[in-house]
Amino acid sequence: MAKHPSTVPAKPTHDTLTDDVLAGLKKDPKELSPVWFYDELGSFLFDSICELPEYYITRTELQIMQTHAAEMAQHIGPEAAVIELGSGTSLKTRLLLDKLDHPLAYVPVDISREHLFAAAGALAKDYPNLHIVPVCADFTQPFELPQFVRTAQRRIVYFPGSTLGNFDRTHAHALLAQMRDLIGRNGAVLIGIDLYKDRRVLERAYDDAAGVTAEFNLNALRHVNRELGANFDLDAFEHLAVWVEDQSRIEMHLVSKRDQVVRLGGEKIRIASGEHLRTEYCHKYTLEGFSELAATAGLAVRRVWMDPDQLFSVQLLEPARLQ
Ligand code: TRP
Repeated sequence: MAKHPSTVPAKPTHDTLTDDVLAGLKKDPKELSPVWFYDELGSFLFDSICELPEYYITRTELQIMQTHAAEMAQHIGPEAAVIELGSGTSLKTRLLLDKLDHPLAYVPVDISREHLFAAAGALAKDYPNLHIVPVCADFTQPFELPQFVRTAQRRIVYFPGSTLGNFDRTHAHALLAQMRDLIGRNGAVLIGIDLYKDRRVLERAYDDAAGVTAEFNLNALRHVNRELGANFDLDAFEHLAVWVEDQSRIEMHLVSKRDQVVRLGGEKIRIASGEHLRTEYCHKYTLEGFSELAATAGLAVRRVWMDPDQLFSVQLLEPARLQ
């Protein structure tokens, strides 16, 4: 396994992080970045979310991969290099790799160096003939592909998990355009897209009966407290998952249960009773809506695989041919 991570982003300092959080808390409505979800406990809670009965996404995408990975592999063809953005645990990736015809390389890209090397190491054991080339980078920023990956027959960007839904339209467009650049003229993108559906199903998926998603959302405050020395009182906030129809998205909020003052970086932030702090968006697409978005980034939808209930989709995109 090659051990040379390419672009390593500079670690933001304590002060920049504090400034970012303060800037979000001064907006109207207030915001807190979803990056704060993921500390050790947050990652554990997220894994638990993926197993919840209400959270259909992970289960359904796995089922789609199990049923259709062979066909996806056929479309991709032999000797492809698979570039996975935000690789995390590579369960779905394995389903794909198992069906590919002599894949040339697997390039997991992740900002977390520990996760990256743990996942790459585990995969290297099970796929001794595959070149595994981890790249430690923030995939929302431009990054360099290792030289030899650029010589592959075909470069495939794999982006499962409905993560594109966590970006607003502008950023989703930018990310798709970056994927288009990464794959060049004859590559492809294989992407998980969660589909528009009954709002009650969606709101339950993001507000489960056992309260795991609520704990996951609140944990962002715990993380800020520990990392930046803030004093959010977790008991003074309530988790809310709300469907916003005109944006076609679930929004995760933390709602203040009372008037309160939070200290952070030598400043005092007032939060009124009933005031909302937005932590994340999860956009849901119709097939037409996503196809239009992909087209704005020069990508055409070639194939769509869905579960029988059409809850979720895995889509193969290719560069749109110019006439
Ligand atoms: N991208 C997935 C989704 O939108 C996973 C995810 C990201 C998530 N943030 C989340 C799930 C917050 C639950 C809560 O569903």
